[in-house]
Amino acid sequence: MAVSAQFVRPDAIAASYEMRRRILCVNSAKSLQHTSFYSSHWKEGQRLSLSSSAKSTCNSVPGKPMPVSMTVTVAPKGDQKLPGIYVPKETHKQVTHSILPERLELIKSLDAWAEESLIPFLKPVEKCWQPQDHLPEPSSEGFHEEVKELRARAANLPDDYLVVLVGDMITEEALPTYQTMLNTLDGTRDETGASLSPWGVWTRAWTAEENRHGDLLNKYLYLTGRVNMKAVEKTIQYLIGSGMDPQTENNPYLGFLYTSFQERATFISHGNTARHAKEFGDSKLATICGLIAADERRHENAYCKIVEKLFEVDPNGAMLAFGDMMRKKVAMPAHLMYDGVDRNLFGNFAMVAQRTGTYTARDYADILEHLVKRWNVAKVEGLSAEGRQAQEFVCKLAPRIRKIDERAQLKPNTSPRTGPFSWVFNREVQMW
Ligand SMILES: [Fe+2]
Ligand SMILES: [Fe+2]
Repeated sequence: MAVSAQFVRPDAIAASYEMRRRILCVNSAKSLQHTSFYSSHWKEGQRLSLSSSAKSTCNSVPGKPMPVSMTVTVAPKGDQKLPGIYVPKETHKQVTHSILPERLELIKSLDAWAEESLIPFLKPVEKCWQPQDHLPEPSSEGFHEEVKELRARAANLPDDYLVVLVGDMITEEALPTYQTMLNTLDGTRDETGASLSPWGVWTRAWTAEENRHGDLLNKYLYLTGRVNMKAVEKTIQYLIGSGMDPQTENNPYLGFLYTSFQERATFISHGNTARHAKEFGDSKLATICGLIAADERRHENAYCKIVEKLFEVDPNGAMLAFGDMMRKKVAMPAHLMYDGVDRNLFGNFAMVAQRTGTYTARDYADILEHLVKRWNVAKVEGLSAEGRQAQEFVCKLAPRIRKIDERAQLKPNTSPRTGPFSWVFNREVQMW
């Protein structure tokens, strides 16, 4: 397989959105030399990208060739291990910098809007709850008694509940990956690490708010004494090391569609773990999960507001991006989860989440339907032919997913299947 960087005219790129997705416009200050890679240079599972020594001219000039590059992940044959390093299983093509120059300019023009409309979704630190507000106070004399009470409350949490809660906690703990993801987005990334642009301020403060989620769940689960913390910690280390490519292509349109979807998914999932904790008699854990769910809801509203703005200023671009994101499917942020043992850990965890009604295929359809309504997608006008196709696709997708799910539910019951989870000391947990 040969992959080459090519020179493509901007008007040719504009001819096809699908093609644009495949071709990477390098919008950085650098430009690229014509470069080719040949199959003999490739190793399975290896990610290739053009070298940073490449030269520059990326700002597109109408009618002049625009340098483009392509990175591809060659699908590994099953899991691979380098000495001590887990190689993630992303098998899709990795596409970068797909946003068109005019859309990038549009994003850059939204700074004042972001300052006024996005930043207010953040909560001042002094008004935020902190994990310690909901944990036994280690400096107090009553610490041991409080821990005893906590353990008594958690004693009735079943293993399948614990597996789902641990999976949610591990997902939260891979926060460095999500901050990285936001900082891949062209036009909104934090350029310095302490940028005063509203996008940079948002990303750091959002990360800081989110950091409380994994922190609190991790400490709580540690104190319950119900989970194998070393197995959990290994999973977190593997997961952060694996990263993820949500196929947002450095494109803020795709990036904020992804985060809108994901924040609602976590809102639903934490809301359900709260409800279930209450049913199992742990009201404090129910409060904790409920507080986290409320944060997720606020974040969902913020990201939805950004996409709403994109629909307002560039309905066609927003629609194309929505269709594109949904065609690619919204990957769960922890899909590369691994504990050093189970090659299908995420799939098994997802099955338990589905069976316990914590996060299901129905929820996926509901989220999509919610977003379609939230952005009034069916009523958007002034679209190109491709835009109208994307509109039809996203509007019809939720019912289609539901139908598939309903058909799956109608299938005759197969006998229950269980599997061991390292997180609960390899005890067998029912997956379906
Ligand atoms: Fe979170
Ligand atoms: Fe979140």
